[in-house]
Amino acid sequence: MSYKVAVLAGDGIGPEVMAEARKVLVEVEQRFGLDITYSEYDVGGAAIDNYGCPLPEATLRGCEQADAILFGSVGGPKWQHLPPDSQPERGALLPLRGHFELFCNLRPARLHDGLESLSPLRADISSQGFDVVCVRELTGGIYFGKPKGRQGEGETEEAFDTMRYSRREIRRIAKIAFETARLRKQKVTSIDKANVLACSVLWREVVEEVAKDYPDVTLEHMYIDNATMQLLRRPFDFDVVLCSNLFGDILSDEIAMLTGSMGLLSSASINGSGFGLYEPAGGSAPDIAGKGIANPVAQILSAALMLRYSLKQEDAACAIERAVGKALAEGFLTGELLPAAQRDQAKTTKQMGDFIANAIQDGV
Ligand code: NAD
Ligand code: IPM
Ligand code: MN
Repeated sequence: MSYKVAVLAGDGIGPEVMAEARKVLVEVEQRFGLDITYSEYDVGGAAIDNYGCPLPEATLRGCEQADAILFGSVGGPKWQHLPPDSQPERGALLPLRGHFELFCNLRPARLHDGLESLSPLRADISSQGFDVVCVRELTGGIYFGKPKGRQGEGETEEAFDTMRYSRREIRRIAKIAFETARLRKQKVTSIDKANVLACSVLWREVVEEVAKDYPDVTLEHMYIDNATMQLLRRPFDFDVVLCSNLFGDILSDEIAMLTGSMGLLSSASINGSGFGLYEPAGGSAPDIAGKGIANPVAQILSAALMLRYSLKQEDAACAIERAVGKALAEGFLTGELLPAAQRDQAKTTKQMGDFIANAIQDGV
């Protein structure tokens, strides 16, 4: 089968981890007889530097012609002085999500057997396991609601964002959460703030309606503040965590860290036609960029999600996931996963990519 993938490596650690994902993809292509053509485009700060805007026309057109987008990360201190809509995040990533209507964001996080010590949780909690999928609504809510902006001046100047959700937007993401739960442990925890927000009251109502079509799936509702702490106290009780845009953003960093690192969490942002953008859930990590020490696993696992959801190559996706599992199980770890005293044993970004690529070549 032949496919076209638009590669948008972006800023900070983006190009570093993307290089390792590409290396791994070369091996799966060979092993599974795939023919993937990659086209690289500038995005984010890199595009601002080269073209004066974060999402150049050529980048958008390239994405439109592709079967999927493999995305690194965008943003960093260098571009934070620009007007908000000209910055990499609001000028490139959010418009891409909106343009392709990538409403469904899946972020799967798992504490692998035997790797409980990677979690910052107490051993009696981490030993009970952790395996969740965060199903996050990605093109609505307070991120995209209008009006948004500033008005007035002096001490009366104010800024405003609008949180809005339609029944349709809630229903389509809720359905995905229930379908996902059906293939897992049949439980959905829907996160909201229905004790305060009108959007959350509607959210609860619609999720209840959708639940009626899934009698085999247990539904619970949880307020966002409680959820942040229940995830620390009893993470093993969660299966599918259904969130609005903002709450999913916050909880996904928490679930990443529960498994050990932001550098482990992959992310798939998909529309109704199966087209998707695949990116690590974390950012450009300016604090470690350029040092060759970033964990490439989130980017590599995002490539696996691309193979699964947009290219429909389940076997190739599973091979990547097994190879990553092998690396972690053998204690092949980047520095942020190790206690300070063991950092001298840390593997580099490139060593991780090589190990995972070799494991695929060896038929893992
Ligand atoms: P961040 O996710 O970039 O970094 C948070 C912490 O996690 C840092 O200590 C970083 O070193 C660590 N980390 C993240 N990824 C890692 C990896 N692969 N390996 C090892 N450690 C890793 O979040 P931030 O510092 O708040 O944001 C930095 C920039 O990235 C900002 O401009 C932000 O807007 C942007 N951002 C972009 C995306 C995206 O493009 N998808 C996502 C999140 C943040
Ligand atoms: C994420 C990121 C983005 C978000 C930012 C960079 C716009 O934090 O993908 O989690 O808030 O969605
Ligand atoms: Mn985020």
